[in-house]
Amino acid sequence: MKIIVTGGAGFIGSHVVDAYVKAGHKVVVVDNLTTGSRKNLNPKAKFYKTDIRDAKKIDAIFKKEKPDAVNHHAAIAEVVKSLRDPLPTLDVNVTGTVNLLLAGGRYRIKKFIFSSTGGAMYGSPKKIPVSESVEPFPLSPYGLSKLLGELTITFYAQMYGFDYFIFRYANVYGPRQNPNGEAGVVAIFGKLTKAGKQPIIYGDGSKTRDYVYVEDIARANLLALKKGHGQTVNIGWGKEISDKKIFETIARGASYRDKPRYAPYRKGELYRSALTNAKAKKILGWKPKVKLEEGIKRTLATL
Ligand SMILES: NC(=O)c1ccc[n+]([C@@H]2O[C@H](COP(=O)([O-])OP(=O)(O)OC[C@H]3O[C@@H](n4cnc5c(N)ncnc54)[C@H](O)[C@@H]3O)[C@@H](O)[C@H]2O)c1
Repeated sequence: MKIIVTGGAGFIGSHVVDAYVKAGHKVVVVDNLTTGSRKNLNPKAKFYKTDIRDAKKIDAIFKKEKPDAVNHHAAIAEVVKSLRDPLPTLDVNVTGTVNLLLAGGRYRIKKFIFSSTGGAMYGSPKKIPVSESVEPFPLSPYGLSKLLGELTITFYAQMYGFDYFIFRYANVYGPRQNPNGEAGVVAIFGKLTKAGKQPIIYGDGSKTRDYVYVEDIARANLLALKKGHGQTVNIGWGKEISDKKIFETIARGASYRDKPRYAPYRKGELYRSALTNAKAKKILGWKPKVKLEEGIKRTLATL
């Protein structure tokens, strides 16, 4: 197949590109390199340095490449930033997505795969791990932009008659995650502790997240080329890992012996989060494989 991967120079997108190339697919990356980097690019993929909001350029790329599928990972993916300054996030994550859907419809793609969020989609759910049947209730413009992205996909897929599949990821970690961003705690703590510097935990350390290793995410995206039709699935372990536990696991791996510094909670952040994975297992035959200790070890080795 020929697949356009947007955000293919970023953290998750570049691992998806690697998995697609390895499986023998032709890959075209569209990325404007705002948070992505050329060094993440797979040399076998064709690269267009283009903004997904640029209608003319996106049209020209689709016209020339005639992709079978689009895997859409390009986004502004920062919760706190979206609360501070919402318009850029909504512009890239909604208008940019619509732009790709319009081009996909015009040039008759067969499938559109989307990277949505589980962590920022369900508000503060009563039951954890949370399943896909829980009504979306985003608490940040970032979460809202992903929900709107999902809706535009179902709308245009129906209008043009192409297939789609939506992932709602938990917290993804692994090599190539930006250690200078606001999230990506494994990359941030990993870089700091390896340099002997003290990490900050926002809150008292009891806040939880569900951590999935990026290669497991890439494998789900590979499965979704063939399986899954018009569905939305969570991708997670269904397990809550506290900030304290993630710090301790990283500190152990990095031989860091000091304590973390504690600071007040940041606005807009969820207190607890974990996602069920039964639907992904049923539809894709996917379940996570790389355990936390192992994933952290592999990540630390790259920092
Ligand atoms: N990292 C996570 O834990 C997580 C969780 C849930 C969902 N996601 C989603 O997965 C996707 C990838 O996230 P990531 O963590 O790899 O982030 P990332 O910042 O590493 O990747 C995003 C990529 O999109 C590119 N990009 C941004 N704006 C663009 C634009 N206007 N035009 C073209 N390219 C643009 C960036 O340069 C970057 O390469 C995002 O859609 C994000 O919302 C990530």
